[in-house]
Amino acid sequence: MAKVMIIYYSRSGNTKKMAEFISEGMKKEEAIDVEVKPVQECRVEELLGADGILIGSPTYYGSMASEVKKLLDDSIKFHGKLDGKIGGAFSSSGNIGGGNETTIMGILEALLIHGMIVQGTPKGDHYGPVSIGKPDERSKRLCIEYGRRIAKLVLTTRRDL
Ligand SMILES: Cc1cc2nc3c(=O)[nH]c(=O)nc-3n(C[C@H](O)[C@H](O)[C@H](O)COP(=O)(O)O)c2cc1C
Repeated sequence: MAKVMIIYYSRSGNTKKMAEFISEGMKKEEAIDVEVKPVQECRVEELLGADGILIGSPTYYGSMASEVKKLLDDSIKFHGKLDGKIGGAFSSSGNIGGGNETTIMGILEALLIHGMIVQGTPKGDHYGPVSIGKPDERSKRLCIEYGRRIAKLVLTTRRDL
């Protein structure tokens, strides 16, 4: 089984819901073990055991929540050890143009620095799924599709680290 962690921060449940939809999409692929957990309960050591790591954050002032940034900063402990894993990001914001894409890109920057592999998409939400407030039907669909797409990528690129 390939293992994927979906780690999120969420105060009012919107990003959490996105994480659950992404997980739903991943589970459409066999041989994927998905763990969804709030960032506050995630120990940085757990990142080492995952083949794929997806991180979701609400958009706070156009960027990720400090709780998510802390996990990324703490991950310096394993700098070089996440090389080659699959990464991805998603975000919920209050407004269209409220900074959800910059939030995603901020997370992806850190994952790329770790040497992780990130896949965009030519259709839908290019950098990773976004939601304006509570995920609507469009956002739900894109989260599920994203989960499935990333699961496929994990299964095709998985290697023993
Ligand atoms: C401190 C703070 C800063 C925020 N900054 C932004 C922002 O810059 N742009 C935006 O569109 N929404 C902003 N919001 C709204 C949240 O991104 C939005 O409500 C989001 O859906 C919350 O996700 P959650 O339910 O997972 O906590 C902010 C909310 C808070 C509490």
